[in-house]
Amino acid sequence: MADSLSPEAVDRYVEGRFGRPYTYLESCVSTQFLFDDDAPEGAVAACDEQTAGRGRYGRVWEAPAGTALLCSIILHPPPDLHAPELTLVGAIAAAEAVEGATGLTAQIKWPNDVMLNRRKVGGVLGELRDGVVTLGIGINVNQTREQLPADSRTPPASLRTITGSTFDRAALLGSLLFRLERAYDEWRHGGLAEVFVEIGPRDFLRGRTVTVDGRSGVAVGIDREGRLELEVGQRERVALESGEVAYER
Ligand code: BTN
Repeated sequence: MADSLSPEAVDRYVEGRFGRPYTYLESCVSTQFLFDDDAPEGAVAACDEQTAGRGRYGRVWEAPAGTALLCSIILHPPPDLHAPELTLVGAIAAAEAVEGATGLTAQIKWPNDVMLNRRKVGGVLGELRDGVVTLGIGINVNQTREQLPADSRTPPASLRTITGSTFDRAALLGSLLFRLERAYDEWRHGGLAEVFVEIGPRDFLRGRTVTVDGRSGVAVGIDREGRLELEVGQRERVALESGEVAYER
């Protein structure tokens, strides 16, 4: 039986504030573009297929129709908090939702990838405009190996290719929204320090040799400001705000 992200299928899994109002289209350009300017916090848009799904650095995010969880959530963060941290907050929620579905431990690859068995199963894209964040989350759910992108920089996987099982995307969306709401409320209360306990143990890059925008070193890990700390020399440490990571496997 094919699963569905229709409002009827999703409604019974929406437990909190996030998920209402809910917009669903079978096909759209990108769920990032499905909101009115006055969309309230917690508004969610989802679809079965994106014709120009957006990834970081202007990349495309591709998934065959009906196979992935593709959604965006509107957030109105307080102006005194650092909104770019919401990418990590989204990654925590996505990792937790993946763990809840699969029973496996997921990791977070700074700053926005969700990893399972050393492969990328999800990504988060935070876009800030006029104080409002549109947080886009994509999770590879039911793709077969052949349906995954071939030219990814990080080896891709879906929950199906890792576990051999298929998953109900509506239930996964409900779980994701519930966990995002909780992590977001904690972040609102005390910033990244409040949710750091969920990041540290899942830090995929910690201890790996990495190159970030041409700068190489050993990753010490994600710090409490959401930066990637790198050991670049005998005693020199740098903390990077953002960047493209290449890592040794
Ligand atoms: C990345 O890893 O580069 C981030 C990918 C984010 C993809 C999701 S899919 C739902 C939402 N709509 C988009 O166009 N992008 C995000």
